[in-house]
Amino acid sequence: MLSVEVRPADPSEVDDVIRLNRLTLPENYPPQFFYEIFNQYPQAFVVAKSGTLTVGYIMMRVEKSLSVLKWVNRAHVISVAVHPSYRRMGIGRALMMASCAASYSAYQATEVYLEVRITNDAAISLYKKLGFNVHSTNRGYYSDGEDAYVMRAELPLGQTLQSQR
Ligand SMILES: CC(C)(COP(=O)(O)OP(=O)(O)OC[C@H]1O[C@@H](n2cnc3c(N)ncnc32)[C@H](O)[C@@H]1OP(=O)(O)O)[C@@H](O)C(=O)NCCC(=O)NCCS
Repeated sequence: MLSVEVRPADPSEVDDVIRLNRLTLPENYPPQFFYEIFNQYPQAFVVAKSGTLTVGYIMMRVEKSLSVLKWVNRAHVISVAVHPSYRRMGIGRALMMASCAASYSAYQATEVYLEVRITNDAAISLYKKLGFNVHSTNRGYYSDGEDAYVMRAELPLGQTLQSQR
């Protein structure tokens, strides 16, 4: 992988994340939402830095959910993206692994899930390599009507890894 540092974001980097989100994804949120997630789960709000440039990010929130009659902490990947010029270098994978590890160790999450467009082959391939499985389909989940797969994995990642770089 290129010399890229993957670490929790500084408060001053949240605006970079907002810009990168707008550049890379149609799912955008008000700035306040990014700051709320950052303030609540700072260790799982991870950026990839190439020098001073923020070239990737991931943000998670941890939710209490009922699973087989007991409460569990489930990490929810809200958004993950890598700048188009920095893709296919292992950054997406590193971001996912860092944020999942933080969700497990800092926020006691024992599961992680996310929604992904059913046509997003790149992301689906990444998640499967990290051990995620398709749990269900949310019909018309996105504002343009596209369906989402809900994909899940157990934490810590690595217990069911199918392939490794
Ligand atoms: C999905 C995304 C985050 C992947 O980031 P990345 O840094 O390019 O991913 P990595 O280099 O870590 O790739 C890891 C694996 O993902 C899969 N992958 C990544 N890009 C791919 C592509 N264009 N086509 C097919 N598989 C791809 C591959 O399995 C890859 O492993 P390999 O390189 O050994 O084949 C990036 O493409 C992106 O930002 N997309 C736009 C935003 C987005 O869709 N976010 C997800 C929303 S749910």
